[in-house]
Amino acid sequence: NTASTWSQRFESALHPAIARFNASIHFDMELIEYDLTGSQAHAQMLAHTGIITPDEGAQLVAGLEQIRQEYRQGEFQPGIDAEDVHFAVERRLTELVGSVGKKLHTARSRNDQVGTDTRLYLREQITQIRHQLRAFQGILLTLAEQHVETLIPGYTHLQRAQPVSLAHHLLAYLQMAQRDWERLGEIYQRVNVSPLGCGALAGTTFPIDRHYTAQLLGFGGVYANSLDGVSDRDFAIEFLGAASLIMVHLSRLSEEVILWASQEFGFVTLTDSCATGSSIMPQKKNPDVPELVRGKTGRVLGHLQALLVLMKGLPLAYNKDLQEDKEAIFDAVKTVQSCLEAMTILLREGLVFRTERLAEAVAEDFSNATDVADYLAAKGVPFREAYNLVGKVVRTCLVAGKLLKDLSLEEWQALHPDFAADIYQAIEPRQVVAARNSYGGTGFAQVRQALQAARSQLSID
Ligand code: ARG
Repeated sequence: NTASTWSQRFESALHPAIARFNASIHFDMELIEYDLTGSQAHAQMLAHTGIITPDEGAQLVAGLEQIRQEYRQGEFQPGIDAEDVHFAVERRLTELVGSVGKKLHTARSRNDQVGTDTRLYLREQITQIRHQLRAFQGILLTLAEQHVETLIPGYTHLQRAQPVSLAHHLLAYLQMAQRDWERLGEIYQRVNVSPLGCGALAGTTFPIDRHYTAQLLGFGGVYANSLDGVSDRDFAIEFLGAASLIMVHLSRLSEEVILWASQEFGFVTLTDSCATGSSIMPQKKNPDVPELVRGKTGRVLGHLQALLVLMKGLPLAYNKDLQEDKEAIFDAVKTVQSCLEAMTILLREGLVFRTERLAEAVAEDFSNATDVADYLAAKGVPFREAYNLVGKVVRTCLVAGKLLKDLSLEEWQALHPDFAADIYQAIEPRQVVAARNSYGGTGFAQVRQALQAARSQLSID
């Protein structure tokens, strides 16, 4: 930074280390396209309202467009002395169009400018993340359609509980992604509000038209209070909250894939295109992708926390602390986008379900015990009584090294006279799953309806 950046109030330049400390250009260049677009709208508004002449407005818009071309061709690379992207653009504009460039900042402050840029940026990123969520849901749906009849142990407390259709399990993640998609759509409405024209904090003495710039930039409305407009970061915190939930969902799925790929579970194998080896142990095939997704979740949750803490003590209106929001937002966006991409590829081609292992797993445990209790309860035995009786049966089986299906009809009837030959069918894994036909349950008929609903949901939006 040089003394010339600031008004004549300053006599000497910043200490070089302080200039570096103060600068944000090394990360806020991420905003350049949005800064150019925002500035073009501002220049058009200045001309539209007669604050500058139409010719001046046209020169500013053209000069800004030229900077965009330079940037896209890799020719615009401002140094740290520009402090931030906003100064860099204004400086280059004045080089390109002469002193009219100095009129661009009329009736504007970097405070409403940076707020505008950040919202334009986030708007676009949210749209992209929502597209990615749709692709992720699409592959979950495809997988689910292939695995309606594949059974997998269902767990509570990570103990075998009741078997479920693998499609049902996958559709649970599809539902989480659906809420994520909806949540981002709602947040978009609050991101899509223009602070441009709030000025430094109090508005401006010029006869600006805030609705005009908002309309040019496609904002759904304008901030009603200038102090709020320049210092609000609720929209960014909400975004980080939504991003955190997306990551939590991806991380839970990752954890399951990691467990499933272990030798102990052995429910999936990882394909070569999505797994890695060990530098020393030749036999290893590691689930790096879901591990990285699980690990990166921490960063996004951290950014949410960082921004909440950043905001909690800030007096109105703008404070330089707010410059710290950018790296958190940018990194959260990139992390969510890269994780969604990687998980979508992993589901598409990285996993092979070992259906024979899964079939074994659901047949060789006591996860049909509830069904025995339900069997008796359906015949009029009070459920709690049936539950206690079956608990005793399980204990006897465990001691004898047997499963429920190994008991003879005489043994069943010795336990309770209501048992008949159809008990064997009732405890067979496929029947255990099929029978849970309550709305939202894992019964095949329910799952087929859920697939149908998901299919039409994904095709309308
Ligand atoms: N680089 C600054 C930021 O990101 C731009 C706004 C600076 N405003 C100010 N009053 N110093 O927050």
